Amino acid sequence: MRNQVKTLNQFIIENQQDFPYSKGELTRLLSDIGTAAKIINREVNKAGLVNILGDAGTVNVQGEEVKKLDIYANDQLIAALKTGGEVCVMGSEENDDIIEANTDGKHNSKYVVLFDPLDGSSNIDVNASIGTIFSIYRRVSEGNGPGTVEDCLQAGTEQVAAGYVIYGSSTILVFTTGNGVNGFTLDPSIGEFCLSHPNIQTPKDAKIYSLNEGNAAHFPEGVKRYLEYCKEVNKEEGRPYSSRYIGTFVADFHRNLLKGGIFIYPPTDKAPKGKLRLVYEVNPLAFLIEQAGGCATDGKNRVLEIKPETLHQRTPLFIGSENMVRKAEEFLATANVEAAVNA
Ligand code: AHG
Ligand code: MN
Ligand code: MN
Repeated sequence: MRNQVKTLNQFIIENQQDFPYSKGELTRLLSDIGTAAKIINREVNKAGLVNILGDAGTVNVQGEEVKKLDIYANDQLIAALKTGGEVCVMGSEENDDIIEANTDGKHNSKYVVLFDPLDGSSNIDVNASIGTIFSIYRRVSEGNGPGTVEDCLQAGTEQVAAGYVIYGSSTILVFTTGNGVNGFTLDPSIGEFCLSHPNIQTPKDAKIYSLNEGNAAHFPEGVKRYLEYCKEVNKEEGRPYSSRYIGTFVADFHRNLLKGGIFIYPPTDKAPKGKLRLVYEVNPLAFLIEQAGGCATDGKNRVLEIKPETLHQRTPLFIGSENMVRKAEEFLATANVEAAVNA
């Protein structure tokens, strides 16, 4: 008998008891994000046809060329979250400052959403997988008017939900509310995200390493040594491993979440704090990987415990299968000790 299809909304309502402090607002918020994802997906799928490709000519706060799809996705998410009335403030990769919501004070808005509306912009024009990333907190500011920048700068451990959408060979929404990780595949014939990957657990060990080796000359010594370890022949330990790098964080993360592996964005001379942004790229995926049995550090510290100082701050990142991350940390620690002794 064909398995009963369970849609995202049915799943959220069934698991309502997971959100004890929420009387349906978080349910509504997650559903709004799902709707925005469907609209973004529709444009992603026809991007090549409506000349939505190509640079919009503007440069975002990161100093990167912004493509029209970035702007479109950003607008869709902001509109969906403002309309839903559950959000008091947002932070987006595409906006220098926070985006206030509920400015008329009409709603009792309890939530804060931080997002990267279109992750992997450089892959839009070449039809490689891209994504959307979101992170949800409860507001810490008083009252029910617009939220504040403090609401957006909470440590990742305070997240009440987080997830991503990957627009690839199929469109999959993966999220957690702190009770495990579940994946939903969009069925275009009914326009619904349907449960396809229940209770995802990531392997403790695996054979895939993922990082941009074009920067290898600038990697810290410990990362260079870990890379050599991954590449050296050791039949008993199943090395060399395989290298996989798509250049879209969501896509590299999703593959490793399902198959196991390590993704690294280390500090380089050009980017001393790495490239990925703590608040709307790293923290949501760190929450997910820990919920799936993996780990995420900056090479030493658990990233979820970092207290953000600014909205767009970056952090080095080692994320994925626990044993692989710990092994990389060993190489980093040894190299740092040696450097200190030889200083
Ligand atoms: P975004 O398109 O949102 O700016 O994110 C791009 C990020 C991330 O998706 C990816 O892992 C990383 O940039 C790739 O950086 P490099 O091209 O430096 O490897
Ligand atoms: Mn991104
Ligand atoms: Mn982006």
